Amino acid sequence: MGAGEGVPETFPPLAKADYLTKTPEKAIHAVKFGLQGKILVNGVAFDNQMPSPGLDNDEIADVMNYISNAWGNSSEKKMVTEKMVEAIKEK
Ligand code: HEM
Repeated sequence: MGAGEGVPETFPPLAKADYLTKTPEKAIHAVKFGLQGKILVNGVAFDNQMPSPGLDNDEIADVMNYISNAWGNSSEKKMVTEKMVEAIKEK
């Protein structure tokens, strides 16, 4: 949603989300391949389906750098690169 707050029990937050800040490789995998099954975000369970957005690796890197530095999130200048996205293989 607009402020990255998500929707309770439906869409997890991205603002201050440990799933994004603590496990960026999992977040990249979600944005690259979509996501289904139970996940925990800030200790709250979400069990829903995210379609694969169908983005290219450079676009995924851009989206990751945006969400990691929006809504109060900060990647402390650590950038996600296209190479890093390329290295994430479908699990
Ligand atoms: C139960 C878990 C989740 C559900 C149900 C969900 C659902 C969705 C849906 C429906 C969209 C498409 C929105 C649209 O096209 O308008 C979307 C996009 C997106 N989701 Fe998720 N999501 C989940 C988890 C996550 C997680 C854990 C992350 C990363 C930490 C994430 C990051 C994103 C991003 C960045 C987009 C936009 C991609 C783009 O720019 O096209 N989502 N999600």
